[in-house]
Order: sequence, then C-alpha cells, then structure tokens
Amino acid sequence: MKKIGVLFVILTLVGSIAVLAAQFSIYDWWTAGGEKQAITAELNYFHQLYPNIKIAQNPVAGGAGVNMHAVIKSLIFAGLPPTTFQVHAGWEMYEYTSANLLDPITNLWKSEGWTKVFPKRIQELCSYRGQYYAVPMDIHRANMLWYNMSIFKKLGLKIPTTFQGLMNVMAKIKAAGYTPLAVGDRYQWPAAMVFEEPLLAIAGPKTYDEFFQGKVNYSNSKVKEALKDFRYIMEHYVNVNHASLTWDQACGLVANGKAAMTIMGDWANGYFMGLGLKAGINYGAVPVPGSQGVYNLVIDAFPVPRGLSPTEKEYAYDWLKTIATVKGQAIFNRIKGSIPARIDVPTTGFNSVQVVNMEELKKDILVASAVHGSEAPAPFVTAWENALTVVEYHPSMPLEQAVKYLNGVNGRYLTPKELVH
Ligand code: BGC
Repeated sequence: MKKIGVLFVILTLVGSIAVLAAQFSIYDWWTAGGEKQAITAELNYFHQLYPNIKIAQNPVAGGAGVNMHAVIKSLIFAGLPPTTFQVHAGWEMYEYTSANLLDPITNLWKSEGWTKVFPKRIQELCSYRGQYYAVPMDIHRANMLWYNMSIFKKLGLKIPTTFQGLMNVMAKIKAAGYTPLAVGDRYQWPAAMVFEEPLLAIAGPKTYDEFFQGKVNYSNSKVKEALKDFRYIMEHYVNVNHASLTWDQACGLVANGKAAMTIMGDWANGYFMGLGLKAGINYGAVPVPGSQGVYNLVIDAFPVPRGLSPTEKEYAYDWLKTIATVKGQAIFNRIKGSIPARIDVPTTGFNSVQVVNMEELKKDILVASAVHGSEAPAPFVTAWENALTVVEYHPSMPLEQAVKYLNGVNGRYLTPKELVH
C-alpha cells in the first residue's frame, strides 16, 4: 500500500514537471477573422527563427480583451504567469506595473536600439515611472468609419466632413431602407466607441483628453452633443440585433450589404481583407467625420511578467525581439489591418488604408483610446461603459437626467486619486 502511495507521488511529480517544463506560453484575444491569421503568421515567423522553442498559444475570445485579463490575473496570482500576454499600452498596462507584476525591460529597449525606432508617444505609453515594460506590436486607429461602397454609390451619397453631416447621411440611408450603422455590442465596448469616436469628432482632441482626465464632464455643450447623438444613433440607426452580435459580425453586415457603415478600429480592415474584399473597391475607410487630423491610438503590446524561470524569460525576450523587428512588424500588421509601431517599415505589401494611416500618423494630433485601455484607468472604463449602456437602454430618460447620472459616475471614478499612476 505504502509502495503504491510513493509510486503515485513520484508519478504525479514527474507529470507536473513535464507540464511545467519550459515552454513559450502566450495569451491574446485575437480569435476573429483577420486578427487570428495575423497572430498565426507572427507565431510561424517566431517558430522559424527559434525552432526549438515549444509554443503554447492561448487565445481567449472576447474582443478588446474583455475576458483575457481575468485569466491572466488568476494565472499570475496562482504563481503561474504566462511567458507573455497581449496588453494595451498605457493605463491597462499600468494596472499590472502599479501592482509590481511586470519586469522592467529598459535594458533590452536600450541594447536593441528601440528608443530610436518607435515614436515618442508610444514609448511613453509602454513606460511606467521611468522604466519600459512592454514592446508595441502595432498601432491601431480607433476613430475610423468603414462603409460599403456599392450602397453609397447606389444611393448617390458622399462621406461628409463633419459629424453633423454624418447624422444627416444616416437619416438618408435609413429612409432608403438600409441599416445606417452596424454595431455588435454583445460585449459592451463597440457601443462605447459610438460615443468615444463622435466625442473626438465633435469636441476635438483637447476636450476629449480633458473628459478622460476628469476636467470636463457631460455638462460641456460638445460632450452633451456627443451623448445626444450616441443615444439617437443607438435608438434609430443601428441594427436591431446589435446586442447579440460581436464586432466582427457587425462588420459582416457591412461586408454583405445589410448595413451601410460601421465605426470600428482598423482591425476591421484586417477582417475585410480576410474576406478577400478590397479597400477602395468594396469598402471605403475614413477617419470618423469631424476627427480628420487626429489619430486615436490603440496599441497592442507585450510585457514580461515577474516570476518567470530564466529559460522562460529568455523565450519572452526572444519573442519581444522578433515582434520588434522590421520584418516581424511587417508580417503581423499587413494582415492585421493596422500599421507598424516602428516608423522605418516600408509601405510595401500594405493596403491603401494602411498607407494613408502611416502618412497621417506622422502629422496628426495623437490621442489614445479609453475603450481600448490606453487613455483612462480600467475601473473607470468599466463603470463608464456600463453607465452608457444604462442611458442607451432608457431612451426616454430626459437628456438632462442622463447628464446628471453620467456626471455622477465620472465624478466617482475619475478622482485625482484614481488618476495617479
Ligand atoms: C485590440 C485589437 C483587436 C480588437 C478586437 C482591440 O482592443 O487592440 O488588436 O483586434 O480589440 O479584438
């Protein structure tokens, strides 16, 4: 009996050691069309460079990382950190750094010369209190409008230059019997983009930043206008089944001509390309009207968690070096729909939307997306998105009452204490 017990313990130990043997364990939320192919291509490239590293990819479905971070936190608290994981640079990353859960990688940034090839603003977002903590894989743009070119042609419509103009176009599209704007807010964040991007377009980058810094609230006339438009759009202009669809299913409505437009980051570009559609022929893309000249940044980055074994840490560094190369950035971003975070990647192989965005990034005013983790603290973002849903689902609530309610939420979550990092 005793012998069997000892044998059992030995076998269990051997088993666990086998399970825990060093491997490259990476977490991301790239499971939809376009994004899935992009990460697969990058992992294939990594495998080519480091054929001896065993890769364990762990995708957690739910755009914008809505589900993945809970998994990462449990793993870290169980003492089993993954080798690396997808994180938005900025506030989402600060949640980990302020709890001392990531290893600084300033030496790597310096020895690899990355301080010379990534834009300053991106470097700031990848840093915390003077140290670098992550490497950017891409630059996405949140303030983009995607439209079905044949619907626009058929109805003789043009993309306007102001947000008010876009509201008028939506009215015309509805009158012609089409859904003007596709939304898939099964996870809330795509609806929050129908407030965030109009806010940028209507109020401009300064007020946009002040709003997320708690300096301006919904009583500001421009913010109030964005709120009013958000509620009107969600009540009158979106597909009735929006609450049961995901972001990519909403893009699908634009692709198959069931809806005329969608407001979404340029991962939509990757989704459309993945369907074999061509920018400028099947679908058009512009900054959300009114936000021309402003680039709303969404940065996917990869950090090194604390507590890795020396071998795992080496693997993490190998990955970071791979994604930071010109080739690594080109392979991923061409498919993803985004643009490289490095400024020295040639435009070869990128589509027209990406080439325009690469140009615009150089001259535009840069802000960062709150919906996508960079601009504001995570507890605020969750409370803010929930509160927007409340006023969206109560369209008869008078605007002033909605303003009062939403100001209360902002006041509770955007206090000076919350905003320290
Ligand atoms: C990420 C993108 C991703 C999108 C949808 C965003 O938050 O930054 O990389 O494609 O979510 O999943």
